[in-house]
Amino acid sequence: MSDSQVMLKDYLSSAARLVESELEHSLPPEWSVPEKLREAMAYSLAAGGKRLRPVFVLASAEAARGDERDREAAVAVACAIEMVHTYSLVHDDLPAMDNDDFRRGKPTNHRVYGEAMAILAGDALLTHAFHLAASARHRGAQAETVLDIVEDLARLSGASGMVGGQAADMQGEQGITSLAELEYIHEHKTSDLIVFSVTAGARLGGVDSEALEKVAEFGRKIGLAFQIQDDILDLVGDEQKLGKKTNSDTAAGKVTYPYLVGMEESRSIMERLTNEAKQALLAANLRRPERLLELADYLMNRDR
Ligand code: IPE
Ligand code: IPE
Ligand code: MG
Ligand code: MG
Ligand code: MG
Repeated sequence: MSDSQVMLKDYLSSAARLVESELEHSLPPEWSVPEKLREAMAYSLAAGGKRLRPVFVLASAEAARGDERDREAAVAVACAIEMVHTYSLVHDDLPAMDNDDFRRGKPTNHRVYGEAMAILAGDALLTHAFHLAASARHRGAQAETVLDIVEDLARLSGASGMVGGQAADMQGEQGITSLAELEYIHEHKTSDLIVFSVTAGARLGGVDSEALEKVAEFGRKIGLAFQIQDDILDLVGDEQKLGKKTNSDTAAGKVTYPYLVGMEESRSIMERLTNEAKQALLAANLRRPERLLELADYLMNRDR
């Protein structure tokens, strides 16, 4: 590994640790919450995962600002998006959706707590995410910036965002869904939370609206590339490393990039999107874009 790859790995693991220690205490211990619900929420949150979306919040704030100081508000927003993402996975794995038994190296939430509690744990994670995002105003962020972030979180997670993408994914059918429709599915079910992460970080770093649009384009393209890689790994990945079963998409008859355009073309689309994402980021003229650029390359070569 090169020096910069080692530095990126160190950054990823220290940012993940920071977010994880915060996630442990994010639901105030003095709140009266049914014990099983608290447990089911903590189970999926603590199960690990790459913590990519929170890392993007931190890295984007730092890229915009040019240094790693004053992370408090960014950490709150980072935890918020990890909660929305974790809820989306808990629901995605339910029998009514992808019907999967393993996630992040452990049995899925509904396998341990039952479907009703898994649905409710997801609901509570989603709701608490908004509490956490709003709390950034007590942690050094301007109230107006926090309002913009909360508005984005609602739009990008909801009907026109991740949930909309998941709904379209459920309606996808082999032999019927076109490449343009699949692009819509991937951009919403996956890119939108990544767009949130990078733009929320950039907002905290104080960028103007022109730069924000470029940063959003970076997120859209990286997110699409990320989901294409997820489709590829479902076919050729290692279950141990991924922490989830492979061939889940094939078993469920899902429409994916490899299904529609083949493996080789999927890889080349992913590479093209990553390069375009990096160009968009450079056009945003952030103070220190290097780490975000390295993250983009790192993701293209991921095996987990
Ligand atoms: C899995 O996301 C679901 C997708 C949107 C592809 P990740 O691959 O980021 O899952 P974790 O957070 O590392 O478990
Ligand atoms: C999931 O896509 C996207 C969201 C959870 C929003 P997938 O269904 O492909 O994710 P995995 O493969 O189960 O992680
Ligand atoms: Mg799914
Ligand atoms: Mg799934
Ligand atoms: Mg998948």
